Amino acid sequence: MNIHTYEKFWLAAAMVLIVGFIATITYGSVGIGIAMVDDEQDTVNPDNLDEHPGFADPGVEQVGENEYEVHIIAVQYAYFPGDFEVPADSEVTFHVTSEDVIHSFSVVGTNANTMVIPGEVASLTVEMPDVDEPTEYGILCNEYCGPGHHDMEALMTVVPEDEFELEDDE
Ligand code: CUA
Repeated sequence: MNIHTYEKFWLAAAMVLIVGFIATITYGSVGIGIAMVDDEQDTVNPDNLDEHPGFADPGVEQVGENEYEVHIIAVQYAYFPGDFEVPADSEVTFHVTSEDVIHSFSVVGTNANTMVIPGEVASLTVEMPDVDEPTEYGILCNEYCGPGHHDMEALMTVVPEDEFELEDDE
């Protein structure tokens, strides 16, 4: 069988495209730390967050020398806390849950982005940048959660380590 040269070229080009598409899809789904919310996440009773050790008093706490945990509750249409500070150059693990419907927790300009499902705790660890002056990061809800969805936001400020102070809450 005689295959024309042009035909061979286009056959080869088509194969390269197919392999390329499969490679980009594979990379996009597993290559950059993307994980689906699954049954291995912690669960929580959304009607009883008051009795949960972390969510009863949401906010920032220090858990190691340079490690912090932030518990955040998402509700229509706000986050609690809605405005918080974390120290620069630290490792911060967010634990986020919802009290009502599905929201998301997305730190604008970073790849920190997770769905927030009532009854589930979404946890993600973020290395904070080493900044010289306070730097604000917006947090947005990416899941349509009702008529106030577009107003649902919070503010995280990364502050230089020597300016960081844990807020005392009695
Ligand atoms: Cu919460 Cu959209």
